[in-house]
Amino acid sequence: MNARMPADRRPTLFASANACGKVILVGEHAVVHGQPALAAGLAGALELTATRTPDPGAPVRVAIPAWDLDVDLRGDLEHPVAQACAEVLSHCDGPLTGWQIAGAPTIPARAGLGSSAALTVALARLALGPDADPEEVIAASMVGERVFHGEPSGVDSAVATYGGVLRFVRGRPPEPIRVAAPLRLVIIPSGVPRNTADQVARVRHNLERWPRVARPMLDAIGATTDAFQDALVGGHTERLGELMNFAHHLLAGLGVSSPVLDELCHRARAAGAAGAKLTGAGGGGCIIALANEATDPIVASMRARGLDPLVVEVQPC
Ligand code: PMV
Repeated sequence: MNARMPADRRPTLFASANACGKVILVGEHAVVHGQPALAAGLAGALELTATRTPDPGAPVRVAIPAWDLDVDLRGDLEHPVAQACAEVLSHCDGPLTGWQIAGAPTIPARAGLGSSAALTVALARLALGPDADPEEVIAASMVGERVFHGEPSGVDSAVATYGGVLRFVRGRPPEPIRVAAPLRLVIIPSGVPRNTADQVARVRHNLERWPRVARPMLDAIGATTDAFQDALVGGHTERLGELMNFAHHLLAGLGVSSPVLDELCHRARAAGAAGAKLTGAGGGGCIIALANEATDPIVASMRARGLDPLVVEVQPC
């Protein structure tokens, strides 16, 4: 075997790479105002495979049919996904021509489950390889995330890279949390689009108008997050559902729930969930329900409502 491969035949993308999605367990919105949040990785959220195209000069094409995405990285550069992908590949000294990249996701796009970070992390890994330094992968992902989200906090890229559960406080590096027992979560996309910037602005408005009311609510979300973390680490799973309900009601009080999200939380609890809350920005997007035992009754109840829930297990690590 030839130990040295000629430079012109070196592969410039690896054959496949994957990344996690994310779900915010608790602490959304309060995290914008200095409180902690906990986010969990959704393993296997996106798998990318790369194949060479017959024409080495053809622009790289990224196609993820389940997300209605098919862009080329030369002609579609006004498309934010094409621009983000091109910037990630350039940052990693990857190729911009001669490859076709296909994606198979298990999470929906634009539902607050970290699809853009999953894409940019998996793409960085395609270019940098499976042994790449995770911090380099995160840095590359952030180049793309800035195209999507302006000044993202970085929690999505960190969780998409590392998985597990991370504690996140603005301005500090994310801290891995050791979970004592697996958590069975049902993620229920409401089908209603959400707009993170609008929801963040709503909380800010309430905070400016009613500081003595809204500030203690944000602080209470922070206290809920700390209690949730203690219960996760201490294996007190029976406390988690209650804390999720507190978090949901505090978020609703701050104005970021909606009649549909409230209804879905009620429905999940009525189907046996230990607790349920909106996750992410709210107003639309997803709720999460913690299954006490079987997830089936919650899943069946949501399917009967015409929704397509996702069952995930957050593993101890
Ligand atoms: O739905 P998402 O993933 O965009 O969640 C936003 C989380 C917020 O706390 C509302 C905003 C933020 O930047 O942390």
